[in-house]
Amino acid sequence: MSPPRQAQPPSFSAPEFRAALGMFATGVTIVTARTAEGQLIGLTANSFNSVSLAPPLVLWSLSRAAASMAVFSGGSHYAINVLANDQKALAERFAMKGADRWTGVTFDLGAGGAPLLHGAAATFECFNRSRYEEGDHVIFVGEVERCAHRHGASPLLFHGGRYFTEHPL
Ligand SMILES: Cc1cc2nc3c(=O)[nH]c(=O)nc-3n(C[C@H](O)[C@H](O)[C@H](O)COP(=O)(O)O)c2cc1C
Repeated sequence: MSPPRQAQPPSFSAPEFRAALGMFATGVTIVTARTAEGQLIGLTANSFNSVSLAPPLVLWSLSRAAASMAVFSGGSHYAINVLANDQKALAERFAMKGADRWTGVTFDLGAGGAPLLHGAAATFECFNRSRYEEGDHVIFVGEVERCAHRHGASPLLFHGGRYFTEHPL
């Protein structure tokens, strides 16, 4: 018998898929960019992951429905800000449609003008190296030009739709 050429249709509902994915605890990031006109862009994303050490590559994925898609697809740089455990309010704000996301937010401008948020546990300044359209998301692979971290910072964690902080075993 020849091996199947395509997957079987899913045997589970969308809520079951979401609930299973939610068992994978992640950190929380805000991915930021600045347009040529100076407009600040940012959204909360937990799809961040490492890809390669040499060259230094990371990935994250963006919904095709995201308002920020055009900016991230067309721009040369973005920054991935890994949030600390006292930045939950920022995570919520940068996930909310229609919110004034940048009011009161302090940052420096990194590579390509991408905002580096003050207080982040770590920052990765990325060249927008490649993009892969898959399903309802686009996977972005970034080449890290600069990174920094706050030694000893406690990360913000996300699991099952709720925020946590670390609890060493
Ligand atoms: C914890 C958390 C993680 C999220 N991760 C992602 C993600 O990885 N990719 C994504 O496209 N949206 C993600 N979202 C949803 C976006 O933050 C949200 O849809 C946002 O409004 C998109 O902004 P935009 O439409 O201005 O681009 C996440 C939301 C939360 C609360």
